[in-house]
Amino acid sequence: MRILVVGSGGREHALIWKLKAERPEAQIYAAPGNGGTKTLAESVPLKAEEIAGLADFAESREIDLTVVGPEAPLVAGIVDVFQQRGLTIFGPSAAAAELEGSKAFAKDLMKQAGVPTAAYQTVQSYDEAERVIRKRGAPVVVKASGLAAGKGSIVCRTIEDALDAARSMLIDRRFGNAGATVVIEDFLEGEELSLLFLTDGTVTLPLLPSQDHKPIGEGDTGPNTGGMGAYAPVSIADTKLVDRVTERIALPTVRALAKQERPFRGVLYCGLILVQGDPYVIEYNCRFGDPETQAILPLMGGSLLELFERVARGDSIAAARITWTERAAVCTVLASAGYPGSYDKGKVIRIPKRLGEDPDLILLHAGTRRDPERRLVTSGGRVLGVVGLGETVRAAAEKSRAAATDIKFEGKYFRKDIGYREIQREAPR
Ligand code: AMP
Ligand code: GLY
Repeated sequence: MRILVVGSGGREHALIWKLKAERPEAQIYAAPGNGGTKTLAESVPLKAEEIAGLADFAESREIDLTVVGPEAPLVAGIVDVFQQRGLTIFGPSAAAAELEGSKAFAKDLMKQAGVPTAAYQTVQSYDEAERVIRKRGAPVVVKASGLAAGKGSIVCRTIEDALDAARSMLIDRRFGNAGATVVIEDFLEGEELSLLFLTDGTVTLPLLPSQDHKPIGEGDTGPNTGGMGAYAPVSIADTKLVDRVTERIALPTVRALAKQERPFRGVLYCGLILVQGDPYVIEYNCRFGDPETQAILPLMGGSLLELFERVARGDSIAAARITWTERAAVCTVLASAGYPGSYDKGKVIRIPKRLGEDPDLILLHAGTRRDPERRLVTSGGRVLGVVGLGETVRAAAEKSRAAATDIKFEGKYFRKDIGYREIQREAPR
């Protein structure tokens, strides 16, 4: 079997790791992959955005299944192009991926479908934004509607901050066209949760609940990043809550999309906030989360590949079940000094050999590459995900943190508190 995985981050390394574990004889290609995927998959020098080139590659190499990691190619229509060419691909069409590509679209869909989310208004000019912000008051959240690499949502404590955010989007065009439409919504207070669903467009299968850590600083302080770590499972997301999210959020969402003739086949990522225990949607993504995937997949029993194949072929997953190991996983992200701002690249990474031999550790690369001398060097802001496994989140976190300490590169930064909310919940004895 030949599989192509599109993308270059820790999420894609996790996907390749899982697929290779399930099907060791499969020939996997990573486009473009990273310094860590090379041991499991052949790197293809094509970026995720080079849709026509990727389709040519899939055709010429007779790829049996393509799996797409990042949102940009999905929103740009990679699935439509592959399908038109008769190629089997896992992911939503451009029409369905609009759920992530346009926050204005997503909010309107939620409203129609009765999915709980923050009250909002959509604006297209600064004058309109100012009126709305002054009327709603602070705190308030100002969001660029389009794709902004996770940086387009600004939580504003004061009206002045909100006006600045609106100005930067609508006048200064900080996010280009992605900020031409702006969603202004009420601030919701509560704990966040990522709940991902595999869906064939009708049936939704929940994956293990996880929690991301977006801010750069410990205790969730400082600017937001792509995600500094994640853990799974999350005890507050018990079966009852997962069922509730399925009934009130995931199913109404896929039904509303199907009604608009935009069947969603792929991974529906529900970014939730629990307001006094009630789940509200903060955002949808049309793909696996990064770094949530690095914490979820090591706990998954059964075949992900089979589910991918079914969904990609347009078959039903009604009969499918996913099993989960009764353990915990914590992924600590090692970042380059300066991230999420500017940072240096090309720093040599040293990984003690024994880390690779520990069955309770998985090293998932993100911003790494091999230099001409075959040394592993940094090539991005988020460099490596260190996944620790254990019987509790505390044990998994200790494992992850110890290994994160032992890996060396100049300017290495990581949060030492990944999973702290769950560890506090586990603490009282
Ligand atoms: P987003 O890009 O929409 O996922 O938002 C990024 C982060 O901003 C989220 O993870 C939340 O921490 C925060 N956020 C977004 N919308 C809201 C909201 N309505 N209320 C409170 N926090 C929010
Ligand atoms: N971890 C957040 C995301 O993947 O968008």
